[in-house]
Amino acid sequence: MRGRFAILLALVTDLQSHLRDRLLTVLTDLGLDRAAAEPLLQLGPPKNRDHGDVALGAFQLAKLAGKAPPALAGEIAGKIGADGVIASAEAAGPFVNFRFARAALAKQVLTAIAANEAPYGPASGNGQVVCIDFSSPNIAKPFHIGHMRSTVIGNSLCRIHRHLGATVHGINHLGDWGMPFAKMMTAYMHWGDETELHKSPMRYMFDLYKRYSQAAKDDPALDAEAAKHFQALESGEDNAERRMWQFLRDESLQAFQGPYSRLGVTFDHITGESFFEDKMEAAMQRVTAAGVLEESDGAEVVWLKEQGIKQPCLLRKSDGTTLYHTRDLAAAFYREETFHPDRILYVVGAEQKLHFDQLEGVLKKMGEKVADAVEHVPFGLVLSKTEDGKWEKFASRAGNAVFLDEILDESVAKVRNVIAEKNPDLEDKEAVAEQVGVSAIVFNDLKNSRIKDVKFDWDAMLNFEGETGPYVQYACARLASILRKAETPVPAPDAIDFALLADAERVLLTMMDFGAAVQRAAEQSEPSVVTSHTIALAGEIHSYLREHHVLGAEPAVRDARLFLVDAARRLLTTGLGLLGIAAPERM
Ligand code: ARG
Repeated sequence: MRGRFAILLALVTDLQSHLRDRLLTVLTDLGLDRAAAEPLLQLGPPKNRDHGDVALGAFQLAKLAGKAPPALAGEIAGKIGADGVIASAEAAGPFVNFRFARAALAKQVLTAIAANEAPYGPASGNGQVVCIDFSSPNIAKPFHIGHMRSTVIGNSLCRIHRHLGATVHGINHLGDWGMPFAKMMTAYMHWGDETELHKSPMRYMFDLYKRYSQAAKDDPALDAEAAKHFQALESGEDNAERRMWQFLRDESLQAFQGPYSRLGVTFDHITGESFFEDKMEAAMQRVTAAGVLEESDGAEVVWLKEQGIKQPCLLRKSDGTTLYHTRDLAAAFYREETFHPDRILYVVGAEQKLHFDQLEGVLKKMGEKVADAVEHVPFGLVLSKTEDGKWEKFASRAGNAVFLDEILDESVAKVRNVIAEKNPDLEDKEAVAEQVGVSAIVFNDLKNSRIKDVKFDWDAMLNFEGETGPYVQYACARLASILRKAETPVPAPDAIDFALLADAERVLLTMMDFGAAVQRAAEQSEPSVVTSHTIALAGEIHSYLREHHVLGAEPAVRDARLFLVDAARRLLTTGLGLLGIAAPERM
């Protein structure tokens, strides 16, 4: 994995860079080489916030200094001395815990948020190029729940990397080629009806596919027919197959557009498997030239035993047709040449681990440098509750497909009921129900580390008091309502006495952690780190508001708190935005 650990200095806040500068001076005074010490200065949140605002681990610096870590930590703490920004430094074993002056903390964090400066706002170019291959449903088949996870996780990763200043290529690698598609085409040629199709394209195609699978069990000739159609399609000629392919592709893409726009998802490139039709021959030649292609029963494969992968990677079948892998290989070459990516993230379910191990393995065996960029970003299943309270794979019962649009509709309907009951006079009821209903599902998906299975539990997802999308959205709406009721614009930063916000230190420290959270989410392809940050910030601001009045406070305090409220609303909105979730003004 290339470029993975590049430190993005743009993310360090002014507070931290002030501390770094002061530390480097102290370390030079202690006889360390400045240039050698600089990369070893790792500041992070302390294990326990009661001990300090940020901590420095002295392990590596101590090695450089030829001292024991606790000894060096003690020397640093003794030498640094307080200034207007640093309030205290205390050694604790091999760590030094620092505390910022409260007024400086409030001023720096809140003005940076108000000005939408990095890391709270988007950073300018960090030099990284990241391709994100996500969603990638198989057209002419239902957009299943696994594709929803890929769509939601991938969308969030695109937003996170963009925020950090990367050049992002969001790619929909549509499954619009190969045998599954050929089967659909065959089914349509036998039984298709355009009027029926237009009534409900996804459901219609799903039923057609089911009918095919059923029929193929009794009639093996059907699969042979599908194989022939696929050959005809791959011939590149302008024939009936090609026209059918175009027709079904257009219809499906149009049907997917519905859920995509509800989820706020866009792509920079919709280059499906078919896009690589004319690029596979060159890819195969490249594999041959690298001397790694072997013949096996008339098929062409690459063995990867020496990498501990038992199954060979099949690149061409004995009938001459290509496979899913062949197209992924061509796509890797194409992306390398076109985008020069540092990372290519494949947001695809854990069940395709072998596929991506093999892809990376072939590239490695060929000595291709793009192998280092390939990263499978797997995720767990979606589970639903059975009648008797057990959890099972969503829609695992035969024929019981669940369509994304229908799930979104169900969630929105439930939110609509809550609104009717709790806040019937709300303006824009329908728009709020849509925002909150869709977001509840997205938030639930991004809440835990992606590899865990997602439990689809309506009560938990829609609980306005739990760790849910509605809870964080509600916090935003509450802050927006305070700002509306203030009836005066948010005061300018130079009109604020930031020392009056010392009582908001927990909110401020949580805000300060935002940049590191986004950074970690990007490095580990883990939007849940951002989700947790929004939950923490919403929780802190709720408790602050429980104990402190804003509008009723005396003028200077009121102004300072309004500034805080505005910053919290902005940062929560940004955090939700990175998850692909909208923040309603009212709820
Ligand atoms: N269409 C595939 C599926 O639904 C996912 C494609 C993922 N992307 C890739 N480059 N293989 O299983």
